[in-house]
Amino acid sequence: MTESNGPPPTTRRRFLTASLLAGGAMAAGGRAQAAGDPAILEVQPWAQVLGEGVDARPYGTPSQFESHVVRRNVPWLTADPISSVNFTPLHELDGIITPNGLCFERHHAGIAEVEPAQYRLMINGLVEKPIVFTLEDLKRFPRENHIYFLECAANSGMEWRGAQLNGCQFTHGMVHNVMYTGVRLRHLLERAGVRTNGKWVLAEGADASAMTRSIPMEKALDDCLVAFKMNGEALRPEQGYPVRLVVPGWEGNMWVKWLRRIEVGDEPWHHREETSKYTDLLADGRARRFTWVMDAKSVITNPSPQAPITHGRGHTVITGLAWSGRGTIPRVDVTLDGGKNWRQARMDGPSLPMSLHRFYFEFDWDGRPLLLQSRAHDSTGYVQPTKDELRQVRGENSIYHNNGIQTWYVNEKGAAENVEVS
Ligand code: MTE
Ligand code: CO
Repeated sequence: MTESNGPPPTTRRRFLTASLLAGGAMAAGGRAQAAGDPAILEVQPWAQVLGEGVDARPYGTPSQFESHVVRRNVPWLTADPISSVNFTPLHELDGIITPNGLCFERHHAGIAEVEPAQYRLMINGLVEKPIVFTLEDLKRFPRENHIYFLECAANSGMEWRGAQLNGCQFTHGMVHNVMYTGVRLRHLLERAGVRTNGKWVLAEGADASAMTRSIPMEKALDDCLVAFKMNGEALRPEQGYPVRLVVPGWEGNMWVKWLRRIEVGDEPWHHREETSKYTDLLADGRARRFTWVMDAKSVITNPSPQAPITHGRGHTVITGLAWSGRGTIPRVDVTLDGGKNWRQARMDGPSLPMSLHRFYFEFDWDGRPLLLQSRAHDSTGYVQPTKDELRQVRGENSIYHNNGIQTWYVNEKGAAENVEVS
């Protein structure tokens, strides 16, 4: 009897049949010892030499064999990489944390290289005492650590009218999830002394795009952070080094990077990013505005077009991510047949509000084509809609805030493709 290191097959009989058919080479994820596999029987090259010493890699980088795990862009999406976006390789990741070097980037005027000694944050407008902080000043306020997702409002925007981009990196990769260390914006506003008519703040970036967004005072005083660390280390330049605004659960555009100024006002500013951009044109010509919160959404990351099933029929692990700007994700459903039958996925890992959640669904694949979908339920009871349900309410013109259910078609060979079943 051969032994398998893979997960237990559904039945012993099925395991036997599979290993006989495959000549004992592969069954349910494990290789048979009897096959005489040189990878385990022979001394490998890395065991015949001494490796590099401790200081060879003072700042560690991933294995050379992981060089395909990178952010990628879609060149035809934008005219120029200076005002552009690239995407997180969600299909290569597991758990809930996005490694710093893989967080998608969205810049409107390229990456600002801000010198920390020259960094200043000003608070002005309707305050008792306009004030300017250095980076050191900021670090003397009480620090907090929180894991939050950031999702660009345009994530999945190309999918609004139908399936388009072939890979969850491209359809859903404008999201990342990191632990921020920072101080509450509330503390800084209190230091400046907000006047009674101060109802809004304007966050402004130091980059050449002078990115500005209006944020209501309630949110600014609630959970917004002025953050200087991500996953324990300094923010990366791409993510706003040395300081960015964190606006939990709200669209990524408001998370101003290279934050240089917070102005307090009595009404919103109606700047470009809240009028001609980041608004949703409805069928009747009116536009939804100030659609800040990111609704519950999910996506199966494996299998997906860039990550086919390669092991053939048998025990198969489906995994994916779910998130909501309104709370946690207590439940995700998965369907294998385009929505006819739904089954509950297994959630694993921390369940934190406004953070990515990881789900798994394990099943015995019979090798027939699949129409895979996932559907998130958030802690408010909201259920992720189909794309058709979204279009019925919002029409065909939208780009932003597409949280519709995604479908992957998996053929009998395990290859996956972006399709729509609504
Ligand atoms: N802040 C500044 N100063 N400049 C920018 O171009 N882009 C915004 C936001 N903050 C932007 C910015 C947009 S649209 C998004 S989605 C997020 O930053 C992207 O954050 P990331 O690059 O860390 O993924
Ligand atoms: Co954005």
